[in-house]
Amino acid sequence: LFAGPVDFLKGVVAMDGLPPADRPEVCFAGRSNAGKSSLINALTGRKSLARASNTPGRTQEINYFTLGERAYLVDLPGYGFAKAPVAVVAKWQALLKNYLSGRPTLRRAFTLIDSRHGVKDVDHEIMKLLDRSAVPFQVVLTKADKIGAQAMEATVAQVQEALQKHPAAYPELVITSSEKGQGIATLRAIIASLD
Ligand code: GTP
Ligand code: MG
Repeated sequence: LFAGPVDFLKGVVAMDGLPPADRPEVCFAGRSNAGKSSLINALTGRKSLARASNTPGRTQEINYFTLGERAYLVDLPGYGFAKAPVAVVAKWQALLKNYLSGRPTLRRAFTLIDSRHGVKDVDHEIMKLLDRSAVPFQVVLTKADKIGAQAMEATVAQVQEALQKHPAAYPELVITSSEKGQGIATLRAIIASLD
């Protein structure tokens, strides 16, 4: 899918605001603060294309980016804890769930897991939703620069074990650091190979 310049298209706050489902797309899902927006910036080589910040709940809309004319990259709001009013958070969570279970052109969801934290209950919840909707998903471990090799092994083992329960999961994990560039070329190649 990777071809052509990347640009911000729009921020979507309700399902009827989604662009026409006329081309393939991949999305980046994960708990608040997992590193979704940073990963999009690393993948596209654009430092502040997607807004990243240390405040959980930074991304509050479904943000669409065009990949040339051929595909969309989609940055999602996080799930779980966010620094925003309860009613507002409930609204994006509903939107997120509707998007993840009802977007016909979604080719793959990348589910991001912070390498330090592993799979949590909210991750399982989203993965179950993806299973039920038959959306293939692949786990991307983020912030690999923040932990050592042994801790990473433990996380990989925990995540692989957790994925056994999820029929829609790809067994291979991608280990990344947006900060150091680790795994970014691999992830780009995975996206490029989708059609
Ligand atoms: P929400 O939009 O709030 O759901 O968060 P997000 O998942 O988009 O996370 P974001 O990309 O905003 O990153 C959250 C914080 O983690 C920021 O302070 C980033 O700088 C930091 N971060 C993201 N990726 C990495 C990484 O690979 N290494 C390190 N060290 N920090 C990272
Ligand atoms: Mg974000």
